[in-house]
Amino acid sequence: MTGAGRRLGRAIALALGRAGCDVAVHYRSSRAAAEATVAELRALGRDAEALGADLTKPADIDALFADLASRFGGLDILVNSAASFERAALADIGWEDWDRVLAINARAPLLCLQRSLPLFAARARRPGRQDGARAPAAVINLGDLSGQTPWRGYAHHGASKAALLHLTRCAARELAPEVRVNALVPGPILPPPGEEEGDPIWEARGQRLPLGRTGRPEEVADAVLFLARCEFVTGVALLVDGGEHLLSGGRP
Ligand SMILES: NC(=O)c1ccc[n+]([C@@H]2O[C@H](COP(=O)([O-])OP(=O)(O)OC[C@H]3O[C@@H](n4cnc5c(N)ncnc54)[C@H](OP(=O)(O)O)[C@@H]3O)[C@@H](O)[C@H]2O)c1
Repeated sequence: MTGAGRRLGRAIALALGRAGCDVAVHYRSSRAAAEATVAELRALGRDAEALGADLTKPADIDALFADLASRFGGLDILVNSAASFERAALADIGWEDWDRVLAINARAPLLCLQRSLPLFAARARRPGRQDGARAPAAVINLGDLSGQTPWRGYAHHGASKAALLHLTRCAARELAPEVRVNALVPGPILPPPGEEEGDPIWEARGQRLPLGRTGRPEEVADAVLFLARCEFVTGVALLVDGGEHLLSGGRP
């Protein structure tokens, strides 16, 4: 589970733990938060470990998955939640900005998926597995609506999330039936840096949605559990967005 130390990633990691999963809690800079998530998971009786990596660095990803393999031996579910959320006017996007955003939001999920494949295969060989051994592994990629609707000021971010959505479909087709690959697309759940819960701008963001409010991390986590469990679903983007995608203009 990438980006699992805080915010949505933390909520998803804890929901997986409550559902009976052992969890590798990846972090980049939020080590203390990741260790707190691990402590909560262990208190639930789950095995958990905090593993650090900068996912823009392929060598870090290799090391992360080597650690994961030696610590857990196999993998059933990969959740790609780590991401950046950078704003820039299109005219100001430098190639370094483009590469950095694409590296974390699109390339890292691909590399994590590739490095998960031998761990998915290893999971069925683990001792003690009696039922479900042939159930497909599950990959869940966290997108956002910028991957479907152009948001002003988020061209590189939106292109990275669009790439992630298409990667999801390509991987779902190519890796079936052994691996299911789905995307989860939240609407406004937690305010981005610069906005806070209770802030009038954030409140207004919820009020304009068809369902009239922002979402809760637990609602995203529930949807992750659905995608992890439902063995007849692959290649979809599940929108958990209070109906935001129905608004003709999307974001400003
Ligand atoms: N929050 C929302 O309302 C919302 C709405 C729509 C979609 N989403 C999507 O849902 C996912 C989780 O959202 P969030 O708001 O919880 O995300 P976030 O707080 O913006 O970022 C999640 C984590 O990504 C990690 N990260 C960033 N750059 C990294 C790098 N180079 N290498 C490794 N890790 C890196 C960070 O880990 P460290 O803290 O350890 O550095 C961070 O905690 C994201 O994919 C986001 O696009 C969220």
